[in-house]
Amino acid sequence: MLPVLSPLLLTSALAAVLSDRQTLAGSNVCDQIAGSISGQVYTPLDLTSHYSQDIEHFMSSSSENPMCVVEVTGTEDVSAIMKIVASTRTPFAVKSGGHASNPSFSSTTGVHISLAKLTQIILSAEKTTIELGMGNHWTDVYTALNGTGVNVVGGRVVGPGTGGFTLGGGYSWLTDQYGLTSDTVISYNLVLPNGTATVVDANNPDLFFALKGGLNRFGVVTSIVYKTVPQPDLVYGGIQLFDSSAVPALIEATVAFQTDNADPKAQVILTLNGGTDPGAILLSFYDGAERPAAFDPYNNINPNLDTLAVQTFASFSQAAPSTLVSGNRGAFATLSTSGLTKNFLTAVANESTYYGDLALLHSGLLLSYDIEPFLKYGEYATDSAFPHSNSPLPLNLYFSWSLETEDSFWRGIMQQSINHLTEVSRKEGIYDPQMYAYPNYALDTYTGPQLYGPTNAARLKVIQEQYDPEEVMLLAGGFSL
Ligand SMILES: Cc1cc2nc3c(=O)[nH]c(=O)nc-3n(C[C@H](O)[C@H](O)[C@H](O)COP(=O)(O)OP(=O)(O)OC[C@H]3O[C@@H](n4cnc5c(N)ncnc54)[C@H](O)[C@@H]3O)c2cc1C
Ligand SMILES: *[C@@H]1O[C@H](CO)[C@@H](O)[C@H](O)[C@H]1NC(C)=O
Ligand SMILES: *[C@@H]1O[C@H](CO)[C@@H](O)[C@H](O)[C@H]1NC(C)=O
Ligand SMILES: *[C@@H]1O[C@H](CO)[C@@H](O)[C@H](O)[C@H]1NC(C)=O
Repeated sequence: MLPVLSPLLLTSALAAVLSDRQTLAGSNVCDQIAGSISGQVYTPLDLTSHYSQDIEHFMSSSSENPMCVVEVTGTEDVSAIMKIVASTRTPFAVKSGGHASNPSFSSTTGVHISLAKLTQIILSAEKTTIELGMGNHWTDVYTALNGTGVNVVGGRVVGPGTGGFTLGGGYSWLTDQYGLTSDTVISYNLVLPNGTATVVDANNPDLFFALKGGLNRFGVVTSIVYKTVPQPDLVYGGIQLFDSSAVPALIEATVAFQTDNADPKAQVILTLNGGTDPGAILLSFYDGAERPAAFDPYNNINPNLDTLAVQTFASFSQAAPSTLVSGNRGAFATLSTSGLTKNFLTAVANESTYYGDLALLHSGLLLSYDIEPFLKYGEYATDSAFPHSNSPLPLNLYFSWSLETEDSFWRGIMQQSINHLTEVSRKEGIYDPQMYAYPNYALDTYTGPQLYGPTNAARLKVIQEQYDPEEVMLLAGGFSL
């Protein structure tokens, strides 16, 4: 039998202890929020699946259990919540697609703001611009645009959300033609840290700059207006899977592709995998209905599986089965280079097998290295927190493992691998001190100068002091500028 305690029976000492407990203090904040917004508030005791779905991430190590989940319905809800978390100094998080690779970037033990209900997709009458709510996933946007003749410069695989992806930069299948996703933004609907709603566009150059790579440090974005780009009805592309024995030939082909391709409609990602399932993956995309000559270097390498086909962009965007490798602990790490040489890519392949051999001992699963041979997309760069007018080539490390006790081991190995490859890139003449770590791929230990360069980091700090003097956004996890 559980005794039913009346508040009147609590001694003052016990009451003091209880009021310090986060759950009780927290439920006050959550109650206050529930009374101030039109969206729904869900607690851990909630029997619907909203709470559990809203806090889920691609990497389980990016999730935490909050006091409550708030499904906001729009800018006014966000405004009200920001005022409450600011005045009570309550830790909070903002989650869009939940693909953050760092713990606590979009998770919290406090108030979890879910943007899941913000799924508006509004194409302008002339089809020149599109407003997307920050609860959308890119593949849903592509499906909605199927057949319209226009597209947005968004994500490459199933999963990432419009929010973090755009606010961190955004490498797209259309980047060689139009730049990063952030370069195609016309305006942001932003709730400032003090709860004031505002529209940020070229008329506010400081915040416009800050939101292009600054992620969640400058407020909460509810929707973004992007420019659209023309989209042919049919594109060519798909995924190919290879044995490890094909890796040397894939490296040769990728160096040839990187050196010789001049067609910005042709892009590839080469993934070298170590760990429990070693091998390689090639994702190819052409923004037109035929296989271009640019892909010739890959012609004579035989895959075990091949889905290359002429299809709609909406169907192509689902080519990579990215969800198959979700649900484990994991992290990203990154390094930007100015080129890709055979020696560098061979060193990358060696890293994947070298550390892949440690997987069994340390509950390691997939250890993958994504090679992204872009052209000079920097010509489309706008004034951005994340500098890219010099067209840095981001390398993406994605390691996954199963045991929490191995978190620091693998994160340490990832940084060690980045350090080693940085040395190799220096020797190969493809290291450029003006190229920084792409925020959407970087470990949380990176600080402003490593992500944005010293000049941009200093400018961001000034903007942060101006727009967030109370340091409200620091109640949410994220990079330190
Ligand atoms: C399977 C997979 C594929 C990927 N593919 C690509 C790719 O092709 N190109 C590429 O560039 N990157 C890619 N990424 C990296 C991806 O861009 C980042 O992980 C990105 O931050 C995810 O955004 P999200 O909204 O899904 O994540 P979330 O975890 O929801 O958010 C990430 C960060 O952004 C903040 N944030 C999100 N929405 C808002 C908002 N509206 N206002 C303020 N802050 C906000 C969050 O608080 C958090 O700090 C990929 C990642 C994965 C796991
Ligand atoms: C896109 O539209 C085409 C017709 O133009 C249709 O055949 C296809 O099924 C649609 N694809 C998706 C993913 O909606
Ligand atoms: C392979 O990688 C490991 C770890 O970085 C390094 O110590 C070793 O020298 C590399 N081997 C070759 C042949 O590059
Ligand atoms: C909120 O911040 C903005 C930008 O710094 C400022 O213009 C506005 O006056 C502030 N609002 C309140 C209510 O303090």
